[in-house]
Amino acid sequence: MKDIALVGCGRISGRHIDAISKTSGCRIALVCDVDEAKAAATADKVGCPYVTDYNDITGVDVVSVLTPSGWHPKHASELAENTDVPYILCEKPVSLTLREAYEMFNRVDAAGKTILPVYQNRFNPLVRFTKDLIDSGKLGKIHQFICNVLWNRNDDYFKIGWHGTRELDGGVLYTQASHYVDMVHYFFGEVVEHKGIGGSLRDLEVYDSISATMSFPHGTVGTINATVSVFRENYLTEFTLIAEKGTIRLSGTNLNRIDSWDVEGLEKPDIDFAIDHVYGKGHDTVYEYISQERWEMFPARSDVLSGIRLMEMLSY
Ligand SMILES: NC(=O)c1ccc[n+]([C@@H]2O[C@H](COP(=O)([O-])OP(=O)(O)OC[C@H]3O[C@@H](n4cnc5c(N)ncnc54)[C@H](O)[C@@H]3O)[C@@H](O)[C@H]2O)c1
Repeated sequence: MKDIALVGCGRISGRHIDAISKTSGCRIALVCDVDEAKAAATADKVGCPYVTDYNDITGVDVVSVLTPSGWHPKHASELAENTDVPYILCEKPVSLTLREAYEMFNRVDAAGKTILPVYQNRFNPLVRFTKDLIDSGKLGKIHQFICNVLWNRNDDYFKIGWHGTRELDGGVLYTQASHYVDMVHYFFGEVVEHKGIGGSLRDLEVYDSISATMSFPHGTVGTINATVSVFRENYLTEFTLIAEKGTIRLSGTNLNRIDSWDVEGLEKPDIDFAIDHVYGKGHDTVYEYISQERWEMFPARSDVLSGIRLMEMLSY
């Protein structure tokens, strides 16, 4: 049985609590929030003790960092240095800057601990299937991809705490589209050429809309368009792949549906899935891997760092 401590009892903590409750080999041993009312309410809901200072956490197998994004490097590093917890699960994005990401890995490594980044989109069965198909060569040359993340976050959303700030949020590519930037990085590797142009007509410190164009080592070119400024509600999430021997389009709230499939010699696989929330099913898999001690399933340091480098390149 793996004992987990949650640090940060905000919105995403509910998804972690749900995922852990579904995993027979994991349980929540402790929760922590600087806001004592939130910590107490979450502890009451889960049926566990709470602390308000993460430096007081001890005796658990994994601590999950669910605090505002810009603080992840500081919180993960201090948890590694000041507590006895060996594994530090860290919500996305692991860092808003490459410099802080390097520093965090160095400090966590020096403390003899391990960072487990939450890149749950990699555990989406459709994303995995597409990755395996690309790697198998069955699609031939990959000419182009189009990734559109066209969502709505209204003005009230940006009035909440850290949202829309340069220091803690980082903007649409970091907070909303980071799973999709990671997916492109996971599929195609290191970017060769790139150009990202950001815009904000909403008086935010960060970009609410970004159009980015990039190329990859085998000549694949593609675009990511991401916005939180669609009128009224989320409009579209899609990934279209144009290859020598096939065309595939994934869509649905979290790329949970193959809505177009034309691949030479291959029937459309029956792997669409339904979800009753916006986060996909990946957190369930994250805790399943933790319970099985399959640490190798989490992206390694070099992979995470080059993904953050890509996000930085596309954002400025
Ligand atoms: N993987 C996903 O799909 C997904 C989805 C949503 C959010 N997230 C990520 O999860 C993180 C949290 O997002 P959220 O929406 O839950 O934010 P939130 O603001 O609702 O919650 C953050 C919580 O952290 C607490 N906190 C801040 N500093 C702390 C400290 N030093 N010690 C303990 N607690 C502290 C705050 O009091 C707050 O309760 C962000 O990085 C976000 O990008 C990931």
